[in-house]
Amino acid sequence: MSVSSSGSAAYSGSLEGSNAQRGLWSSRLAFILAATGSAVGLGNIWKFPYVTGENGGGAFVLVYLLCIAIIGIPIMMAEVMIGRRGGHSPVNSIKAIAQRDGLNPAWKLVGAVGILAGFLILSFYSVIGGWAISYVGTTASGQLSGQTADAVGAIFSGLLSNPGTLLLWHTVFMALVMLVVAKGVRSGLERAVSILMPALFVLLLIVVGYAMTTGHFGQAAAFLFQPDFSKLTTSGVLVALGHAFFTLSLGMAVMMAYGSYLPKKISIAKTSITVSVIDTGVALLAGLAIFPIVFANGLEPGAGPGLIFQTLPLAFGQMPMGSLFGTLFFVLLIFAAWTSGISLLEPIVEWLEEQKGMNRTVSTLGAGVVCWALGIASILSLNLWADFAPLGFIPMLEGKTIFDLLDFFTANILLPLGGLLVALMAGWVMSKPAMEKELALSPGTFSLWFVTVRFITPIAVGVVFIYNLM
Ligand code: PHE
Repeated sequence: MSVSSSGSAAYSGSLEGSNAQRGLWSSRLAFILAATGSAVGLGNIWKFPYVTGENGGGAFVLVYLLCIAIIGIPIMMAEVMIGRRGGHSPVNSIKAIAQRDGLNPAWKLVGAVGILAGFLILSFYSVIGGWAISYVGTTASGQLSGQTADAVGAIFSGLLSNPGTLLLWHTVFMALVMLVVAKGVRSGLERAVSILMPALFVLLLIVVGYAMTTGHFGQAAAFLFQPDFSKLTTSGVLVALGHAFFTLSLGMAVMMAYGSYLPKKISIAKTSITVSVIDTGVALLAGLAIFPIVFANGLEPGAGPGLIFQTLPLAFGQMPMGSLFGTLFFVLLIFAAWTSGISLLEPIVEWLEEQKGMNRTVSTLGAGVVCWALGIASILSLNLWADFAPLGFIPMLEGKTIFDLLDFFTANILLPLGGLLVALMAGWVMSKPAMEKELALSPGTFSLWFVTVRFITPIAVGVVFIYNLM
């Protein structure tokens, strides 16, 4: 192996604090916690319910689940495998593999797509993280108790119409993310995930329990799980595919970075499946918590990005000890978003460090501040620029604000594109015996995975892209 290790030392610092030695995850569990911390976030609790509502429910959920199983899990395995085989940060891992397997160094493009996607996603992700922070105060102050759907809706509209408040909480969220990335101390936060994620799960279960008492649970379950294909559009399929990548943190080389820390003896397939199952479980629970409340209160399932902020507060306002549970819920949501936000900023900071020779504090400040500034465009598209659709002349982008465009371009285009490149790299150019060794699967299972990344994923992503461009 003739690859410079300067970058990896820096990366190791970011994961292991002051430890300059490139350490391995202490166990399979440590990897699962970090990967789950990245995967479980606003995507599961904020985005999944609202895109499901917008795209008609059951049929969309089915396509999303298929995308997770047939595309997401195999791509996650490929990313983790590339990371572990490369043994460095994503760009250097790909370089290392390119040297060993005689590939074109242009495959580094995978890393570039990831850096750009992470940066753009974080700019609006942080704004939504800010909503969650603001709701801690809203729930804790008890102003939601016994409120009607209209009153809860008005609180949310009030927040959106106030750029100053949005900016304040966006700034706080971004500062939290930058702090951890700059200090390079993630291990503490990642360990916290082992308590906070199960707690979030339990709180979701409590809300699901409350939702069962609304008398509309059956209707919600039918909405989520009875596919009505007449409601599925081609753009809905693209959103389902994009969301599968978004929610699993794929197509961005994040799992590649984490994979480089995974000890050789641990099964990549099993860990990838575990992370994906946890992630999907959280999303489905969020759906089961929210839709009964939607139907019980005559709300609109397709209400858009505000859906959870207009439904969950209603539930917390009505259930016993709602202020307590509500406050806890939003605090945990902030933690989930925080660990995801860190993994969104990490790639660009690492790239600035490795390739531009900046130190970690400077690169975090630089990237973070530019990202924060871009977030202001998303904030304004919720109020002052709400009618501004810069690319509205393109039919499929009609009426999309800057915020909508950033979400659409990153989740539905950049991430699947990054995933496509990973699939092509693993399916067509990397050394097959090396991959067999790395994945250590039975021959039949390996072939299944190989055929998937070689043919099924590229064809599926290609077909969905082409249909949507036509
Ligand atoms: N998976 C995260 C979520 O669902 C978002 C994310 C996407 C994080 C891509 C990292 C990379 O909230």
